[in-house]
Amino acid sequence: MMRVAIITLSDSGYAGHREDKSGPVIRELAEAAGYEIVHTALLPDGVEPLSSELKRLCDEDLADLVLTTGGTGFSPTDLTPEATLAVTERPAPGIAEAMRYKSLQITPRAMLSRAAAGIRKKTLIVNLPGSPKAVRECLEFILPSLGHGLEILR
Ligand code: MTE
Repeated sequence: MMRVAIITLSDSGYAGHREDKSGPVIRELAEAAGYEIVHTALLPDGVEPLSSELKRLCDEDLADLVLTTGGTGFSPTDLTPEATLAVTERPAPGIAEAMRYKSLQITPRAMLSRAAAGIRKKTLIVNLPGSPKAVRECLEFILPSLGHGLEILR
């Protein structure tokens, strides 16, 4: 069974001012697809907290797939792609391209998602947008194809 870590990036969520609704959507869809959720975290925006957490999860082989939500937009605090690209060894741009391709059919604002995806060691990291709606739309589209990639990675 593939192991999934879910990381929510949100300053307001981290401060306890806002409930994380997107992390639970990832959990629901990943579990329905037969994945095991082994770790969840709620982190503040910024490069350092996320890049450290990603390094730990990948280098200690604690997850096969890390799904992040939030911090992919244009706000100055949206730094999830930067944290992801700082630690990935091999980019997997097709996954982010696929999400934007699918999402553009729903809203032109999908072009504003800077989401990235890539591989560190044997772990795939994929950025999802922040809203629960966007998370569902993106994950439902990419999830059926991720399993094949994860098998090859092992
Ligand atoms: N993708 C899908 N499928 N559905 C959406 O509603 N919203 C977009 C985009 N991608 C959206 C989407 C919007 S409005 C933004 S600003 C970006 O994702 C970035 O979102 P984030 O800053 O919450 O990560």
